[in-house]
Amino acid sequence: MAAPNIETIVSLSKRRGFVFPSSEIYGGLGSAWDYGPLGVELCNNVKQAWWRWMVHERDDMEGIDSSIILNRSVWKYSGHEETFHDPLVDCRECKQRFRADHLLAEFTMQLQQEWRKENPDKPEPPPEVLFMGKGLQRGLGSFRTPGYIKCPACGKSNWTDPRQFNLMFRTTLGAVADEDDPAALAYLRPETAQGIFINFLNVQTTMRRKIPFGIAQIGKSFRNEVTPGNFIFRTREFEQMEMEYFVRPGEDERVHQEWIDYCFDWFKRLGIAPENLRFYEQPKEELAHYAKRTVDIHYRFFPERDDEERQWDELMGIANRTDFDLKAHSKKPEDEEGKRLNPDSTEDLSYFDEATKERYYPYVIEPAAGVNRTVLAVLMDAYTEKTTDKGEKRVVLKLHPELAPVKVAVLPLAKNKPEIVSTAKRIKSELQPAMRAVYDDTGGIGKLYARQDEIGTPFCVTVDHQSLEDEAVTVRDRDTWEQERVRVAELPEHLKKRLGIKC
Ligand code: GAP
Repeated sequence: MAAPNIETIVSLSKRRGFVFPSSEIYGGLGSAWDYGPLGVELCNNVKQAWWRWMVHERDDMEGIDSSIILNRSVWKYSGHEETFHDPLVDCRECKQRFRADHLLAEFTMQLQQEWRKENPDKPEPPPEVLFMGKGLQRGLGSFRTPGYIKCPACGKSNWTDPRQFNLMFRTTLGAVADEDDPAALAYLRPETAQGIFINFLNVQTTMRRKIPFGIAQIGKSFRNEVTPGNFIFRTREFEQMEMEYFVRPGEDERVHQEWIDYCFDWFKRLGIAPENLRFYEQPKEELAHYAKRTVDIHYRFFPERDDEERQWDELMGIANRTDFDLKAHSKKPEDEEGKRLNPDSTEDLSYFDEATKERYYPYVIEPAAGVNRTVLAVLMDAYTEKTTDKGEKRVVLKLHPELAPVKVAVLPLAKNKPEIVSTAKRIKSELQPAMRAVYDDTGGIGKLYARQDEIGTPFCVTVDHQSLEDEAVTVRDRDTWEQERVRVAELPEHLKKRLGIKC
């Protein structure tokens, strides 16, 4: 079982301290969210799990942490100034604004559904029904045809012409800067990737790396999304976990496929059910300006939707960026007339292969995942409901132990018995260096178990009267509710083993 919809997770998150609406005491700020005490632990655990898997468990990886604000030239030569746009349209009737490509995709899906209902024996709709496949530009013309695409808010069909909106947040640098001074213009990064490309030579030479190798980075990115929403799925400020893997041209396609499979396995390793994950091969029309091929990993974020196709959305993208970025930031490449393509760069980001005595611009394979979307997917997937013997419904969050915000809760059976309380507190502090442990005595044992189940704590340790005599405690398993007696002296090793903590 997984959560029936995102709303279930929104309410659990607020109730239990995972995620709160941001700036709530001032009426909130659209689609901004604050991570609470459990949310920050979950985010950190996701990032640590990714870093361990991506960087520490491999021999061909380095990490960096680059600036959020970079020289404006980075975004000029990466192509973001010119092409990092979303097409938007306004409804002239109700004044609401939408992403034109999203409305088109929705409309196309409806057309296809209707066509399939009317033509049950034909395998594929004709091209006019699949017009998104003919290219976005052509599709955007549909907004000029009255009655074609209806406003999801008011149902009318009276649109402005679609126009391009650059998603990068602008800012100005320096205290004396005039707001419109182009020399002071800077952007908040819309992807962490560029900070890696511009440091390619620094990392390669200082760490004496040979191709193939990768550079990983985790950090905040910012996009002035036209229609953010669906809780933490699409926000204007979010966190990315990206890795750029540099390979010899010609090896890119094979390595790309390896990373696609490897990333899919990682989500399974985090405990996400394979039936809620799928691959999505981006059609040519959807590819970013730098990509030769991109395969997304989708999660079933919207299980409540009747149409199976509309249940999925992107969790991660794995792109073959070719040599686009390293070339674009290099000083040497020239156009046909011998003019430098990048007159502002002071470096050439090509690589000299000592073994073959060849110089080339490495191709780049990029697995790029969102921290927030991964958090949402693991919360949704871990959500289960269980009925007690008394017929009460309990929420049990079956988070992978590596991700669980709290690994063990130590609970006294009687909080008015000082020896039980002090023993429980002592056990908690002894466990604390090896794992996140909490002590809780704010309710009866049934209520305490229920609270820990709901936040995904894999084990509860109960100290009772007998513990004072036999130096043993009860360990309760979140998923089976089974209990076993464990000697206090053996407790840290017992829990470490069951939690999969290696040292
Ligand atoms: N460097 C490539 C890149 O940025 P992307 O597909 O635009 O590719 C990668 O972003 C991942 O970042 C997405 O798969 C998603 O998980 C996350 N992401 C992108 N935009 C987001 C947003 N507005 N809110 C939350 N997560 C986002």
